[in-house]
Amino acid sequence: MPPPKKVLLDTDPGVDDAMALAFLHRHAAVNLLGITTVFGNAEVEVTTRNALYLAERFGIGAPVARGAALPLVRPLRGAAAQVHGDDGLGNLQDPIAPARPLDPRPAHRLIIDTVRAHPGEVTLVAVGPLTNLALALSEEPALTQIVREVVVMGGAFGTHGHGGNVSPVAEANVMCDPHAADAVFTAPWPVTIVGLDVTHEVLMDSAAFERLRAEGGEEGAFLFEASRHYVDFYRRAVGVAGCFMHDASAAACVLVPELFTTRRGPLRVVCEGIALGQTIQSAGGRRWSHGEAWAGLPAQQVCTAVQADAVLELFLRTLRRPRGGQA
Ligand code: BDR
Ligand code: CA
Repeated sequence: MPPPKKVLLDTDPGVDDAMALAFLHRHAAVNLLGITTVFGNAEVEVTTRNALYLAERFGIGAPVARGAALPLVRPLRGAAAQVHGDDGLGNLQDPIAPARPLDPRPAHRLIIDTVRAHPGEVTLVAVGPLTNLALALSEEPALTQIVREVVVMGGAFGTHGHGGNVSPVAEANVMCDPHAADAVFTAPWPVTIVGLDVTHEVLMDSAAFERLRAEGGEEGAFLFEASRHYVDFYRRAVGVAGCFMHDASAAACVLVPELFTTRRGPLRVVCEGIALGQTIQSAGGRRWSHGEAWAGLPAQQVCTAVQADAVLELFLRTLRRPRGGQA
């Protein structure tokens, strides 16, 4: 067995963020080295409190550091209470009052320190707006040479008819900070994008949720309860029964990349105008007569297809506990 992958999760919990966190924590092939928080699904004070709470609840020992409260350039978009609840975790019954202390470093510093401590080994998994990663890059550009890989849940490239989820062309994490996303996607480090093209194929339906509740022990039961508001949003707003596994699909891509088909090419993010937040890839190595915006940029990987049933099964099996037992 190869040694576990060293992973740092940058996140804005967030109901599906909670699923991704539990997934990475529970999988034996991952060594979770840190959790960094960012504004997004809620203000950063809320997402940070939630990350501490989830870490405490799931028994995760990795440090939790608070990150950016605001996008790099644009104004803050409102919290996504209609999607993730007023508390960011689906309006839980219990108070969210974690006792765990925060790591004293800002998130981008924890990212830099963690990567520097394990050169060539750390996979950054980013499932919220990309502000912390952009700040880490600007403070320590050499990071690009020593990160193993960056896996991002974000973006939408229009394959299989999947457009945006906050505008016809834009996905929420990228829309929250398009300048940061553009900086991260154009930096010379290996980026894999797990966007709506594939996450809108991975539906956690009621049968899967029942399995999670029945087989997933305390964590599964918790994720089931926390998802009720999220599932209700999907039923009302999107007309699907269940929810899309956005952030957990990025975790699956780290664990079993073979479940995803990818396409290579440089990426850009539209940072103004009516297509704000749109992600565009110049694929196939084509040389454009007006291609200045893509010239000389690194080719990154965009996921264009997914074995959705296998991703769902991997998630459920990873969360599964023996009946009445712990881990
Ligand atoms: C992304 O936006 C957030 O609401 C989810 O947590 C996910 O990271 C999906 O567009
Ligand atoms: Ca998220």
